[in-house]
Amino acid sequence: MKIHVEAAEDQALVAKFLEADQGHLFDDWETLDSLQKRRLLDDLNRIDLGFLQQLIRDHLGSDPDHPPIATPAPPPMIELGDPARSLATQEGLSALSKGEIGVLLLAGGVGTRLGHAGPKGSYPLLPISGMTLFQFFAESLLRRQKEVGAAIPWWIMTSPSNHEDTVSYFQEHDYHGLSSADVTILPQEELPVIDPRRGRILRKGPGQILFSPDGHGGAIRLIQRHAEDFRKRGIRHVYTHQVDNPLSPIGDPELVGLHLHQGSQFSSKAVSKTDPDEKVGVFCQMGEHLRIIEYSELGDEERHRRDSDGELSFRAGNVAMHVIDLDFILGDSTGSSPALPMPFHMAQKQVRHWLDNEWHEEEQPNSLRFETFIFDVLPLAKHAIVVEAARENEFAPVKNREGSDSPETSRQALQRLWANWLEEAGHSVERDSEGLPSRTIEISPRIIGDAQQLAKHLSNMELPAEGPILIQ
Ligand code: UD1
Repeated sequence: MKIHVEAAEDQALVAKFLEADQGHLFDDWETLDSLQKRRLLDDLNRIDLGFLQQLIRDHLGSDPDHPPIATPAPPPMIELGDPARSLATQEGLSALSKGEIGVLLLAGGVGTRLGHAGPKGSYPLLPISGMTLFQFFAESLLRRQKEVGAAIPWWIMTSPSNHEDTVSYFQEHDYHGLSSADVTILPQEELPVIDPRRGRILRKGPGQILFSPDGHGGAIRLIQRHAEDFRKRGIRHVYTHQVDNPLSPIGDPELVGLHLHQGSQFSSKAVSKTDPDEKVGVFCQMGEHLRIIEYSELGDEERHRRDSDGELSFRAGNVAMHVIDLDFILGDSTGSSPALPMPFHMAQKQVRHWLDNEWHEEEQPNSLRFETFIFDVLPLAKHAIVVEAARENEFAPVKNREGSDSPETSRQALQRLWANWLEEAGHSVERDSEGLPSRTIEISPRIIGDAQQLAKHLSNMELPAEGPILIQ
């Protein structure tokens, strides 16, 4: 095949793909105009071909389903009543005030299940002000910065499909009061999608490569790519949270403190599952290591097994809040341990694509994509801990448009939590049989993060006698 391009580097690029048996990418070359040709060459330039070929060699022909998992056991967990926790919180606050903790938000998902146009973080969640998830996090971070008397840098991981919208969102909203110098918005990487039979790179149309994001494990790869930024800011540990959970305590001093106190490399929060079929991954002990087994992978027997007290044995549900030691993923600064490799999974998906001069729109999976999960590095940690979180305080995810884990259930969880805080602060709250307050409550995360702070705030103000209760 002869492809005519002028510049020497373009010639080398084309030759590289032809040699790698990816010549089909140029099938439509003659029909493309000069702009389309340039775009295709630019797309090809983004592909780390050696790396992709290695992934294809490692995965093609292997079973795309996850292999059966050998005898998991329930993991040790630092439980809610553990007295070590309050002491640890002080240690966490001190690390935050020294600027050693960075916060990283995973916001690269496309949020198909929610069906919201725009980045998921721009979803207006709060019941009175319509505050978005991004604003909720930004204001919670402002409060935390004030509590510790120091800036806490926030990295936001987007994906190429929502990156520009996320950047414009924060610019238009003036970073919700945060200093723009403390907010870094970076896209995760994308990898080409391939055909399951021959490992050929797929196209979304003539001359257009089909890419897909590298999964939320892309966060680890992002930190590795931008290691200098993290190190320069003096960061030693990174707290990660997901864009779908407004209740994740930003920079969580308790988790940070326990992580430091126990010399852990990867520390996570977990809520107790009460329903065996709840769709959360669970922490399991596998030999000497901890790992997360996704809900779809845990066997029926383990999912339903109960301890003698009636609690589910495999109940440590992953709420996707982690504190990760930077040296663990970057390799220590002395160079004696190397940067951590990210394991890739292969997922089969159905996608419309253009191959061999025709559209492929099969109903069954017709493509393979490579993705990573942030928690895949967990089994590589020498020491890792799981810390129990109270669901009502820390987990109210917004995933689906309706039903479970929807904006409605998340708002209800916020209502119950804020009603609890009001009661703890000495105010009576009328509730229905499901514990929902009869008056709509909204409490600004910018000033209040718990019942004690609320009590202090209310000591010099009156609540409105009727109607919605907005405290800001
Ligand atoms: C995830 C966890 C599950 C956990 C649950 C808690 C996985 C595979 N499972 O499930 O163990 O119990 O959350 O809520 O993660 N994201 C990116 N880039 C990507 C893909 C996702 O940044 O390429 C982000 C999303 O924006 C979101 C988060 O990762 O913030 C979770 O992704 P999602 O695919 O929604 O995970 P779940 O299936 O809900």
